[in-house]
Amino acid sequence: MLKVDLSHAKLTQDLSLYQERVNEAHRWLHEKSGKGSDFVGWVNWPYDYDKEELTRIKEVAARLKEKTDVLLVCGIGGSYLGARAALEMVNGLYPSQKPEVIFIGNTFSASYLKQVYDYVKDKEIVLNVISKSGTTTETSISFRIFKELLENKYGEKAKERIIATTDAHRGTLKELADKEGYETFVVPDDIGGRYSVFTPVGLLCLAFAGIDPDEVLKGSRAAYEDLKDPALEHNEAYRYAVARRILDDMGYQSEMFVTYELQMTSVAEWWKQLFGESEGKEGLGLLPTSACFSTDLHSLGQFIQEGRKCLFETILYFDHMKDDIVFPHEEVDFDHMNYLAGKKLSWVNQMAMEGTLSAHTDDGGVPNIILHLDDNSSFSFGYMIYFFFKACGMSCYLLGINPFNQPGVEVYKKKMFKLLGKE
Ligand code: PA5
Repeated sequence: MLKVDLSHAKLTQDLSLYQERVNEAHRWLHEKSGKGSDFVGWVNWPYDYDKEELTRIKEVAARLKEKTDVLLVCGIGGSYLGARAALEMVNGLYPSQKPEVIFIGNTFSASYLKQVYDYVKDKEIVLNVISKSGTTTETSISFRIFKELLENKYGEKAKERIIATTDAHRGTLKELADKEGYETFVVPDDIGGRYSVFTPVGLLCLAFAGIDPDEVLKGSRAAYEDLKDPALEHNEAYRYAVARRILDDMGYQSEMFVTYELQMTSVAEWWKQLFGESEGKEGLGLLPTSACFSTDLHSLGQFIQEGRKCLFETILYFDHMKDDIVFPHEEVDFDHMNYLAGKKLSWVNQMAMEGTLSAHTDDGGVPNIILHLDDNSSFSFGYMIYFFFKACGMSCYLLGINPFNQPGVEVYKKKMFKLLGKE
């Protein structure tokens, strides 16, 4: 369950004024009749997912997991951010279980790739290359380097340790996978990269990392049910979407996604891609930024409190986290911290949240939206992701733009290819 609290959002308009436009955009999403309608496969995916493929995902992960120290996930943008977000949100930043998951294919940095290479070269490796187009340069470069490593290590048997997640029929990667006989999984035609966490793009990596794909999909189905009625009195995703649009109209240019858990940093990166690539078009859109408090209160806090009033905050707050610590008592109170002895750190974090909320909204004049999520379970991860898909689709349609393309990303590629001498 994810609840939206708008009591600190300082909205100057009533949400209900948007109801008709919301109804229309809801139809565009559900009846595939809006801009980019070829890419709304994610809407019904919580029910329509390929059941046989999910069984195969679980089988492959179970078979290879035992002989794997490191799973290398090779992809960029929507082809890796969702899996990384899930791993960190659900399993934490230092999980004890094997295999370790390392992400490559998302950078040209030789320094990073060399570090990963040296770290994994003597370990047991499985390589999952993920690219819908099959031609993304960052991914292709990493894939060639690490494929060669596997071929040198395992010879003919390298093929059994390479898994390709790509288009069902087309693309260089699909051709290579068929030729080499790699295990393959499909990125559905009607689901774009940043909307693909619930497909094999995300679920294979999750299964390797011990996160049950069924629980994640169950969470997405619960969100589907809660968000299938467009009425703004109870559709939390659309309430959030409309609040964003009102704040945009009020002159705020940036939305800062705030969490109070360090293991949510990758969720924030995923969220920034979802909203940034979907909404930042035609000179429009809110700039998505992020911060983790209280850590970043010691860096960005000053600006938020007293700087230019260009942003509003959206806090994603957990009602319960899995882990907690009770603060210890000391006989001699040398650090004057005994006033917290016996208190849970979750309570201290909550007080930090409440104090900061008041400082930023009451004193700083910064509007805050609060999203309350139950916990950091696999189920809640699935619920939260579907909530943001729906909110993002609605936000973009209310702005009049196509949420599912990213034409601007091609510009840097063209310039770079020219410099690299690509034909
Ligand atoms: O959301 C998107 O569509 C993009 O971020 C893509 O996922 C990213 O560019 C990678 O593309 P591909 O999967 O074709 O390699």
